[in-house]
Amino acid sequence: MRRPLVAGNWKMHGTCASIKQLLNELSAETLPNTIDIAVFPGLIHLQTAFAQVSDSVIAVGSQDCAVQLEEGAMTGETSALQLKDIGCSLVLVGHSERRQLQEESDRVICRKFIAAQAAGLTPVLCVGESLAEREAGQALATVQQQIDAVLVELGVEVLSQAVIAYEPIWAIGTGLTATPEQAQDIHAQIRAHIATYSASVAQELRIVYGGSVKAANAAELFAQADIDGGLVGGASLNAKEFGAICRAAGN
Ligand code: PGA
Repeated sequence: MRRPLVAGNWKMHGTCASIKQLLNELSAETLPNTIDIAVFPGLIHLQTAFAQVSDSVIAVGSQDCAVQLEEGAMTGETSALQLKDIGCSLVLVGHSERRQLQEESDRVICRKFIAAQAAGLTPVLCVGESLAEREAGQALATVQQQIDAVLVELGVEVLSQAVIAYEPIWAIGTGLTATPEQAQDIHAQIRAHIATYSASVAQELRIVYGGSVKAANAAELFAQADIDGGLVGGASLNAKEFGAICRAAGN
C-alpha cells in the first residue's frame, strides 16, 4: 500500500512574513495523518519554514540542488549536503520550469538526482510532456525518456528511494488540469514501464500528479489507482485550499 504524498511547490513566491503566515494557517488546518505532506519554499525561506513547522507533520524540501554533492566553488548554487544539513528531507529535480528556463538537460537532472540521494534526500523527479508533444502522440515517449535518463544510467533500484511527479507542462499554472483518465493513463504506463525492470520497485513507487491541482479536482484525481498524491503549485499558496487537497488525499 503506497502512502500518498501531497507537496506544495511554492516556486518564487512569498516574503518572510507571508511564508510565516501561510505555515501558521496551514498548521491550523486539520491535516490527515495517513499521508505525507511537504512544502517546497524558495531557498531564502527555508529557515523561516523550519522555524514554523518544527512541531508539525509538514516536511520541508528544496526546489533544486546543485549537480555537485560537496560544497565548493559554485557561485549561486546550494549543494544537497547543505540542504540536508539545514534539515531538508526532499528535493525537486527536473521541474519543467527549470528544464525550460534554466535549460536543464536530462544529464544535469540525473546528476542532481545522484547528488540528492548521496546526501540522503529523497529526490522528486519531475517529468512531463509539452502540449506539442501530447498533440503529436509523444506524451508517453517523452516521459519515458525523462525517466530512463535516470533509470538506465543508475539502475531501477534508485527509484525505491525517490518519488516521480508527472506534470504535463500544458497543465502547469494554466488551469487546464489533465482529466483523471488522462493522468491515470500516463501514471499506469509509467508504472508498467518501470515494472519491466522491477515489479516490486514499480509497485512501491509513489507517482504523484501535478498541473493545476486544486481542492475541486483533487479527490477525483487521487481516486485513480496509480495516482499517489499531488505536487501542487498555485493552490498550495492558499492554506485552506492546500489543506482541503491534503484531506482529499487522506480519504
Ligand atoms: P500548478 O503548478 O499547480 O500551479 O499548476 C504545479 C507545479 O508546477 O508543480
